[in-house]
Amino acid sequence: MDISVVILAAGFGTRMRSSTPKVLHKISGYPMIDHIVEEACELSSDIHVVLYHKEELIREHLEKNFDGLNFCTQDVERYPGTGGALRDINFREKKVLVLCGDMPLVKKEDLKGFFKRKEDVLMSVFEAQDPQGYGRAILDASSCVLKIVEEKDASQSEKKVKTVNAGVYLFDKDFLKQNLPKLNNDNAQKEYYLTDMIELANKQNLKVGAVFVDKDTFMGVNSKAHLARAEELMQRSIKHKLLNEGIIMRLPQSIYIDKKAKFEGECIIENGVSIEGECLVKNSHIKANSLIEQSKVINSSVGPLARIRPQSIIEDSHIGNFVEVKKSTLKGVKAGHLSYLGDSEIDEGTNIGCGTITCNYDGVKKHKTIIGKNVFVGSDTQFVAPVVIEDEVLIAAGTTVTKDVKKGSLVISRHPLKMIENFYYKYFKKD
Ligand code: UD1
Ligand code: CA
Repeated sequence: MDISVVILAAGFGTRMRSSTPKVLHKISGYPMIDHIVEEACELSSDIHVVLYHKEELIREHLEKNFDGLNFCTQDVERYPGTGGALRDINFREKKVLVLCGDMPLVKKEDLKGFFKRKEDVLMSVFEAQDPQGYGRAILDASSCVLKIVEEKDASQSEKKVKTVNAGVYLFDKDFLKQNLPKLNNDNAQKEYYLTDMIELANKQNLKVGAVFVDKDTFMGVNSKAHLARAEELMQRSIKHKLLNEGIIMRLPQSIYIDKKAKFEGECIIENGVSIEGECLVKNSHIKANSLIEQSKVINSSVGPLARIRPQSIIEDSHIGNFVEVKKSTLKGVKAGHLSYLGDSEIDEGTNIGCGTITCNYDGVKKHKTIIGKNVFVGSDTQFVAPVVIEDEVLIAAGTTVTKDVKKGSLVISRHPLKMIENFYYKYFKKD
């Protein structure tokens, strides 16, 4: 079925208590609205996003990340509310699916129910144990929806109704056009409610079918507590999928994995690991409490307690505890302990001793450290970048490397050791 889609995102998101617009708060690495826009793009090529509050910010973000969206600005001064949001939009298709920017967990498969049914209007409902905050759906004996009562307008008995409006609807374009102008704002919030369209449909003898949906999947994120809950649910589903694909996870509930992170081959992810941004982890073992950000880790082991910062490639390598790598390519390298490797390229067979530091920043600019094959870097070495170390070099412990080093050399910048016998006793006057 060809449909138009509209995504409502003009609201103030007051309950979020944040200067960041509600729909730009992130879940599993991406603003809430991205998740629903991605699904919408799979369903339709006529997508309308309704904006008002912090419109510029949201629009700029969406334009950067998606093609072909139509934006419209709601006239919130005159027509506040979800009913006001749909006025004056010209939809291309006969059927219009209404989604909200604050429902990040809905996938296109979850909307299948809307495309099989024949009723004139369809809307999503679920049974909530705690219906607080949701509009209550009043159904007739045959499970058709007669009307929706918003919480703030509900009587005591209506408040007890546990069947609630999940906020997704399928309307005919013509029905919207004819009836949106009939909405009024005669209610507790002085808003134009899209939910009043249900009663209007019933008055015109149209049938409103209730599509029962999963309450977790269709949750609306209105507060930071909801945001935390949505994150938990999305993480659970990301990890569930990866576990089914054969990734080993120790204590999966303690692991965070970005929505766009990719895994290949056999991987082990230990407890407390965070994989952030678009990472690739392939045939690797990420040990406890390590953080990988927007990098590739291939045939390697990382951690425990290591940090791989963006734009790094770690291949056939071993990165041990308290090692920080940034924007570096390591191939066939061992860096077992306590090092900072930034803006570097390090080649096969090279061993990075404990306490090695690439001094990549001169206070103004970043510089590169390039280290060749089979280099032995002694403990406590500093590379003052820019610097190039050719293949097969031996760097003595404690060296500060300030010049390029030729193939086959030893470099050492140690002061000769002085030893003064019995000095201790003179110094502390202990005869
Ligand atoms: C809405 C429904 C409620 C339902 C709940 C499901 C109405 C009146 N109420 O309530 O029945 O149970 O969703 O989650 O529709 N928005 C606009 N323009 C506006 C106001 C809101 O575009 O003037 C957008 C918001 O940005 C948001 C969505 O519409 O993405 C829903 O608005 P929200 O204020 O969250 O509605 P709820 O109170 O949750
Ligand atoms: Ca909501």
